[in-house]
Amino acid sequence: MDPAELKAIVRTIPDFPKPGILFRDITTLIAHGRGFAATIDRLVDRAQMADASAVAGIEARGFIFGAAVAARLGIGFVPLRKPGKLPLDTIGIDYQLEYGDARLELDPNAIDTGEKVLLMDDLLATGGTACAAVDLLREAGAHVHHALFVIDLHELGGGEKLRAAGVTSQAIMQFG
Ligand code: PRP
Ligand code: HPA
Repeated sequence: MDPAELKAIVRTIPDFPKPGILFRDITTLIAHGRGFAATIDRLVDRAQMADASAVAGIEARGFIFGAAVAARLGIGFVPLRKPGKLPLDTIGIDYQLEYGDARLELDPNAIDTGEKVLLMDDLLATGGTACAAVDLLREAGAHVHHALFVIDLHELGGGEKLRAAGVTSQAIMQFG
């Protein structure tokens, strides 16, 4: 399936989770067997170029794509978690979402110092989540130069925000 066909499987829902937000919903993409497989194929092609030894994925939707890509590449998966989920050592960072406040946490033992990590999530909007994830991974000793998404809402400026933090971002589809 080509990128335009994949894009057509993403559902768009107005005014969710707040009035004025046009929500791009991947539920329909991952429910579509061929569409999901083609999405993972395209992500794997791009992920190979990052030459990373681990994929870090952002809870929750980043786990769906990040874990599949890590397994296909035969490298580890590091979960960046919502607060209060990790049982042992934890470092965390607070950040702002397009529609509210949030926090990510990481077990720093999951990262080897100097390890090259590819950041993955389903969607890049303002870039607040992804930049917080980069800061947290770097605090744990990771080298983060590449981030990969299924969807980039490019008018919200996340790509520029990541670039300013020294991270190159790629996505397999863009929405205005
Ligand atoms: C969504 C999405 C990204 C983030 C993008 O996650 O999956 O992680 O928002 O927004 P930003 O670029 O403006 O920061 P959400 O926090 O809604 O969590 P979920 O995956 O648990 O649904
Ligand atoms: N869709 C899904 N997740 C999101 C969006 C969106 O439009 N914006 C921020 N997170």
